[in-house]
Order: sequence, then structure tokens, then C-alpha cells
Amino acid sequence: MSREWIGRLGAARVMPIVSVGDVDAATALVDDLVAGGAEAIEILLRSPRAPEVLRLCRRRHPEVLLAAGTVINAAGVGLAVEAGADVMISPGLTPALAAAALSSPLPLVPGVQTAGDVMLAAEYGLDVLKFYPAEPNDAATILKDYANVFPGTLFVPTGGIGEAALPKYASLRNVLAVGGSWLHAGLLPGATRPAALSRNMSEARRLLGA
Ligand code: 3PG
Repeated sequence: MSREWIGRLGAARVMPIVSVGDVDAATALVDDLVAGGAEAIEILLRSPRAPEVLRLCRRRHPEVLLAAGTVINAAGVGLAVEAGADVMISPGLTPALAAAALSSPLPLVPGVQTAGDVMLAAEYGLDVLKFYPAEPNDAATILKDYANVFPGTLFVPTGGIGEAALPKYASLRNVLAVGGSWLHAGLLPGATRPAALSRNMSEARRLLGA
């Protein structure tokens, strides 16, 4: 499987996470995020219309790395593949999910917390992992240790992250990118949103040393 997506996610450095309620609202948010400079976006497959949003965004933004989030089972893998995602992200890892993902054409970034989680992922050949939920677990401190214990493994911390937390992750060599919804939290649709998103994206990249 090609690993060029890893370079793209690392270059993006920041990955906004979008939950889907209304299809038009979620699609408009993705449009504004792209206008604001997002190069990688995770769309959570947590609601019935989310695959439709992913499919629409695939057509509208072929240049953006689109991740299907909350892929927790074989059905989710099927939805992600069918919608045209580039990569799948899950909050954790099970043998059934690993089997479904490894027989699909898409890479999987499974969620981990413990050393055992990282080792289980490694047994399936998975070495780009989501650290979730990051902030409640002091991910930056743990990931500093994991850089020594698991030197070949890269992490994408997400969960509860905001701008103030970013400097902690900037210097960690095993942090590929950081994901979260803080980039668009509280921003209402309208003419000023793309500029606000652009500011948030630039500031996040700056704080992460991109
Ligand atoms: C998720 O998978 O739900 C996200 O990691 C949550 O990120 P957030 O805390 O920034 O919304």
C-alpha cells in the first residue's frame, strides 16, 4: 500500500475534524476549511448522512487528504471506501477492524493510548496511530516517552486539543499531525468564516512549528 498519504498528513500538520449533522452545513464548513488552508480534513462517520458528505467533499476537493473518522467496524470500512476517503481513522483497534481494514485498499490510523495498544497495532503492521483522547490523558508527556520506546511509530493526537495545547506537541518528533475541532469551534457560517478559519489554521501550523 502506498505510504504517500503519510507525507501529505505530515505536511498538512493540522487536521480539522468535522462532525456531520446537516449535509449542507457540513459541506459548507469543509469548503470554508479548504478556503482557509486545510490540506487534510477528517469527517466523522458518526451519523447517517456523513458518508454522503464525504462523497460530496471528495468530488469538490480532490486535492485534499480526506479521512473517514470513527471507522469502528467492517461496515465503516465499507462506507469509507465507497465514499472515496484517502484514509480511515478509528478511536481504537479490534482484531475484526484490523482484518477489515487490511483487506481494504485504504490505510487505517487506529486510536491508541497504552503501550500495549501500540504493540497490538504493530502486530498488524500499523505504525501511524491516533492518540485518543489526547488531552485528558496528557498525551504530550506519554508521547515523549513513546518516541524512545517505539521509535518507528508516528502519532496523530486528537481529542480535547485547543490552540493553547499545541506548543507541547510542536517539539515531539513522533507527532505527525494534530487533529481537532477547535479550529472551527464557535465559528458560524457566513462571509467572515473563511478568514477566521484561515487565521486559526495558520496559527495552529505556526504553533506546531510547520
Ligand atoms: C474525535 O474523534 O471525536 C475527535 O478526536 C475529537 O476531537 P475534538 O475533541 O477536538 O472535538
